[in-house]
Amino acid sequence: VKTEPTFARQPLHRVMRRYTRLARWYRLAEVSILFPHGMRKRAVGRLGLSLGQTVLEIGCGTGRNLPLLCRAVGPEGQVIGVDVSRGMLARAERWVKRHERRNVRLLLHDAAYLNLKCRPDAVLFSLSYSVLPERRAPLERAWRALKPGGSLVIMDAGLPPTRLGRLLRPAAEAIATAFPGDPYSRPWDDLTRLPAEVQTEWFRRGLYFICSARKPADEPSGN
Ligand SMILES: C[S@@+](CC[C@H](N)C(=O)[O-])C[C@H]1O[C@@H](n2cnc3c(N)ncnc32)[C@H](O)[C@@H]1O
Repeated sequence: VKTEPTFARQPLHRVMRRYTRLARWYRLAEVSILFPHGMRKRAVGRLGLSLGQTVLEIGCGTGRNLPLLCRAVGPEGQVIGVDVSRGMLARAERWVKRHERRNVRLLLHDAAYLNLKCRPDAVLFSLSYSVLPERRAPLERAWRALKPGGSLVIMDAGLPPTRLGRLLRPAAEAIATAFPGDPYSRPWDDLTRLPAEVQTEWFRRGLYFICSARKPADEPSGN
């Protein structure tokens, strides 16, 4: 039985425009949503990266995870960031230039049509899964690209099916018009459709979560 109310997700052109406008205030927005301290580090830890590996971040935005991802793969590894908003990506590019990270590749692209030439060892969706207007294609493409044995992590926010969740519904829906995102996304359900072990951890009474799925090591490549 579906308990969540239906929620109109914003179309891609609106998401792109909105995030491009928000780019300069993005750090401030993070404070306003009471984003738990240490969540980024924890999510990157769940990727299980080693030095020299390749990691893909879908919806990398202004590059808030880039320092952690670069540290996790080291100078011999590769970080690929994809985002559809020019304004958000410009901030990430600025960080890459300032820190002279030659092993970071940033792509202005819609994740629903992403065709990577390489196979990442891990994939991260950080506060981006709930923002994607169309989630199925980006998830399937990222999963197909992921190397066997690799991890896909979704760190995000949403309304839990509790009293607190119901109380926060009007506020969350108002926030979602300013920062496009679906407070009712349930990535753990989407991930359980994949042939994967899925784990979810909850924070701040279920308002934030980290879902991880590991791709079987023996899966034929391309799946
Ligand atoms: C809330 S921001 C998260 C940024 C960053 N990952 C973080 O953790 O701070 C969501 C990002 O997803 C991007 N996005 C939304 N739909 C996308 C799509 N279809 N393809 C690629 N990026 C997308 C937006 O442009 C935005 O920069």
